[in-house]
Amino acid sequence: MCGIVGYIGTREASPILLEGLKRLEYRGYDSAGVAVLADEALKLKKHKGRVTDLAKNVSGNGLSGQLGISHTRWATHGAVTEENAHPHVSSDGKIAMVHNGVIENYLSIRKFLEGEGYTFYSETDSEALCNLIAYHYAKEDADSDNRFLNSVRKTLSHIEGTYGIAVMCVEQPNELVGARKGSPLIVGIGADEYLLASDVSAIISRTSNVVYLNDGEIVSLKDGELNLITSDEQALTPEVKKIDWEIAESELGDFRNYMLKEIFDQPKALENAMRGRFSDDQSTAKFGGLNVSAQELRQIDRILLCACGTAWHACLVGEYLIERFARIPVEVEYASEFRYRNAPLDKNTLVMVISQSGETIDTLAALRESKRKGYKTLAINNSVGSTIARESDGGIYQHAGPEIGVASTKAFTSQLHILSMLALYLGRLRDMSFQEGLDYVKALKQAPALVAETVKLNDQILEVSKKYKDMTDCLFLGRQDMFPIALEGALKLKEISYIHAEGYPAAEMKHGPIALISGECPAIVLATQPDIHGKLVSNIQEVKARGAPVIAVANESNPLPEDLVDDQILIPNCHRAILPVLASIPMQLLSYHIANLRGCDVDKPRNLAKSVTVE
Ligand code: M6R
Repeated sequence: MCGIVGYIGTREASPILLEGLKRLEYRGYDSAGVAVLADEALKLKKHKGRVTDLAKNVSGNGLSGQLGISHTRWATHGAVTEENAHPHVSSDGKIAMVHNGVIENYLSIRKFLEGEGYTFYSETDSEALCNLIAYHYAKEDADSDNRFLNSVRKTLSHIEGTYGIAVMCVEQPNELVGARKGSPLIVGIGADEYLLASDVSAIISRTSNVVYLNDGEIVSLKDGELNLITSDEQALTPEVKKIDWEIAESELGDFRNYMLKEIFDQPKALENAMRGRFSDDQSTAKFGGLNVSAQELRQIDRILLCACGTAWHACLVGEYLIERFARIPVEVEYASEFRYRNAPLDKNTLVMVISQSGETIDTLAALRESKRKGYKTLAINNSVGSTIARESDGGIYQHAGPEIGVASTKAFTSQLHILSMLALYLGRLRDMSFQEGLDYVKALKQAPALVAETVKLNDQILEVSKKYKDMTDCLFLGRQDMFPIALEGALKLKEISYIHAEGYPAAEMKHGPIALISGECPAIVLATQPDIHGKLVSNIQEVKARGAPVIAVANESNPLPEDLVDDQILIPNCHRAILPVLASIPMQLLSYHIANLRGCDVDKPRNLAKSVTVE
């Protein structure tokens, strides 16, 4: 939630800040702002709305200077107004700050500072932090070289909550200070310049050398030097990491939006998920970074999969795949529930979290809680160097490339593919035969080509979407591993088209949701499994009998009778190990086209942010 970018160097700051902000807009986009410092004068521009509109206001507005900070907001405290937009400036005019996170004790800080004569102009928690820095700055020795850094450090020792901040001080025109706790922050090291940002996408066009800050660390970027310290003033040696992203991966190219691009990126994302990850004899998968031996994995009695949102749906599919192919019991938990539930776990439980961003606060908290209890923790994650990647004991990188559209598409199918590979790996450590392993690997390798085949349904799905774009309610039904795909289909439709949708196990429909069925509430039925085809046909009959239009997704070799369904989307036949991936594609394309036809901004749906770093 919220994206921040800071710059200090030898170039004009504002164009660099605005470019970075545009790339971070997926983190929040209700308002934005930029502040630049030059000649001991602070120049500030805020705007209620998107970064592109802010950019129009900034150009030609004399926001010149080589030190600056900027912010794109996802509102937590206070309405979407210009006053509540960042940067915030302390009431003595000396400190300017951008913040991502939540200051939990802001009310008591605000009360204290008001008593000290500080004035507040916004409803935000962040302004309390900004004024508290000003308060400590005023108390520091004016001759100290570290006056500004010390004032930030002392302030943070009084803060309860989470923050990623970038701070400037009018009296310190050569220094930019950043700090993090619970919200991500990186330092980009460029030629004659440093950048601070919430994530790599904001700085990748300028440098691929980054330092990831850990919780409790504070950085001062001053006179060409990077000075990293802990909250108790211990100096740290920054560890510089090289990012292997191509800038082109985060460019739109010929696509009209990121969601469509990312749907079409999926064959490549699946190839990348598999690269170098099969045994020489092609009968099993292998993962370099698991940090758990085959011996240890044979000892596990249970796996706990934990995540939020779409990644939680991936966990549900993982449950089917791992239980079916590896015969290991799996439990799936919402990370937000698990972290406070204090669930008893068996001794031989392996905890695995899944997160595209690697920054989702609830998933991170679930990981930390499991680690604290002494469990081995693994992560499936798409963002190299993210907090979850760094804090888990081991894991599997997705290598799906940057996912910019708020609605997860390629990250989801890449997670499914990796879970399927994991099911194979665990299965081969137990009872899966060599021949079954060979067949399984062959199937996994076919997935990119079959997905490329499936996205060719785009035109047909556009036509189907035109018929249903005005619906107000929709049911997604599926059985077994198609149930989570139904849930994911419903989530996709909800989040980008704002149509009410529910995913349900097809047979459970009779236990309640069937009351919703009417001619106005179409049902999208995933009827892809040959072994339970008859059961699905019965469920479709039940829906049809109540007058609802049925859109079926079925296999090419097992189509449904034409008079039974109103529309039918046929996906290629495939092995069960990759069926969830293939069946996801029509779900994505349907919601994409329906949202687009309704004129929705599919990449930046209302009220949402890509990376949920607040509870
Ligand atoms: O980055 P994560 O995978 O941890 O994100 C989890 C959810 O916030 C995310 O999947 C969300 O549900 C997406 N908007 C779904 O499209």
